[in-house]
Amino acid sequence: MTHPSPPSLPPAKFAIVDLFAGPGGLDIAATIMKDEGVESIGVEWDDATRATRAAAGLLTTEVKDVAALGPCDPSVVEATVLTGGPPCQSFSVAGSRKGHKALDDVLRLATRLADHEDEASFDVAWKEVKAETDAMSDDRTGFVLQPLRWIMEAKLKRRRPYEVIVLEQVPTVLPVWKHFVDILRRTGYAAEAHVLHTEDFGVPQTRRRAVLIAQFDPGNVHRKVRFPKATHQRYRKGAERLPSAHDRGDGSLFDTSYTGDDVEPWVSMGDALRATRTTEFVMVSNYGSGGDPKNRGRRESGEPAPTVTGKVRRNRLYPLRKNSSGEIVIRPEEELDRLSPEEAGLLQSFPAEYPWRSTDVAQQIGNAIPPRLSLHILSMALLREPPQEKWYTLLKEWRPKAAPPATVRRPARPQTSPPVPSSASGRPRTGAPAKISAK
Ligand SMILES: C[S@@+](CC[C@H](N)C(=O)[O-])C[C@H]1O[C@@H](n2cnc3c(N)ncnc32)[C@H](O)[C@@H]1O
Repeated sequence: MTHPSPPSLPPAKFAIVDLFAGPGGLDIAATIMKDEGVESIGVEWDDATRATRAAAGLLTTEVKDVAALGPCDPSVVEATVLTGGPPCQSFSVAGSRKGHKALDDVLRLATRLADHEDEASFDVAWKEVKAETDAMSDDRTGFVLQPLRWIMEAKLKRRRPYEVIVLEQVPTVLPVWKHFVDILRRTGYAAEAHVLHTEDFGVPQTRRRAVLIAQFDPGNVHRKVRFPKATHQRYRKGAERLPSAHDRGDGSLFDTSYTGDDVEPWVSMGDALRATRTTEFVMVSNYGSGGDPKNRGRRESGEPAPTVTGKVRRNRLYPLRKNSSGEIVIRPEEELDRLSPEEAGLLQSFPAEYPWRSTDVAQQIGNAIPPRLSLHILSMALLREPPQEKWYTLLKEWRPKAAPPATVRRPARPQTSPPVPSSASGRPRTGAPAKISAK
């Protein structure tokens, strides 16, 4: 009996191994960039998430655990690029004593992994580090050190360092990335780490990610590393949405003297969910208060969504109604359908046809890096230029090769509630709103 050979990364100009790959927030962007010679394979251990990846046609290693694999394994040995978004629960208790301790431990252990000249000395260091992380009460703290192990082993064991490295996580991990930047510079990389805002890149959601980009450039480690430049307006509670280029009438980006910058208006929830939400709505969540208790957790459909997490289904939606003073009026009896998985995926900038698998996909969606942000990061890290315009359309219109069975799909049904005024002025909503006041 012959066995199919395990999946492995084909040689490519930019061959990516994606650690802690999730449902493919980064790998789907790599797929869109295929014509530039980009290929990727993910390492992911959760079976439901692996099922989503398989349905999307993404390559995933047979070995599930990042800790059980290394850069010399035949399935990933061709990789020239390392990316990863390790789980971050140990640090997300931001400000807590436990969170600080986890951070201090990781910085100290990362230093122990740096500056080794040979394989044997690195192996001794890794053994010590592993013994300590294995003994930690939260052994997930050690996950964030795995990319560093891969980077060092690629250099010392495979004897072919990764050419490009991209790591991303929640902003509380920025001090770890900054520490990695110092270590990577001493290892021959030009490297930088910064926090990026997803809505700056046309994602219909506010979310912040700490991103590290490193490029192997031994003679030039202190050079600037170009990061993606904002293409869209930053969201601020109460700020007015900029007029679109279309509404300026000349099809170009609007006058820089008006905006102070060359950016497009933010992309709103209403824009992203146009196919299923035909009237304006307000989303009530635990995020987005902007410091004003009156507005706690409320975002209008003309604004980007608050951060999409695994608890995205807890957000409640109501038709947008305002009283004569312009204040939002919520009528509990008018509650609309909660967000479907496809809608939550759209707010993360996944394609509408993304084949989410398993009964609870919210966690997969909430875990992911928005693919549209990935396009910006990968394009800048690999090609050192902004994404091509056509990639946004390819991403939006992407669909799996073989049509998936409808396991989690819910037919889009029109809203049953009557149209509601879009604002205190009573202007009905028609197509893309030109100017929306965020109350
Ligand atoms: C924060 S998510 C990353 C999401 C991914 N970057 C994306 O955009 O889709 C972390 C992922 O790592 C996976 N994971 C956690 N520990 C792992 C391990 N030891 N080996 C492989 N995958 C792991 C989790 O199941 C989860 O899907």
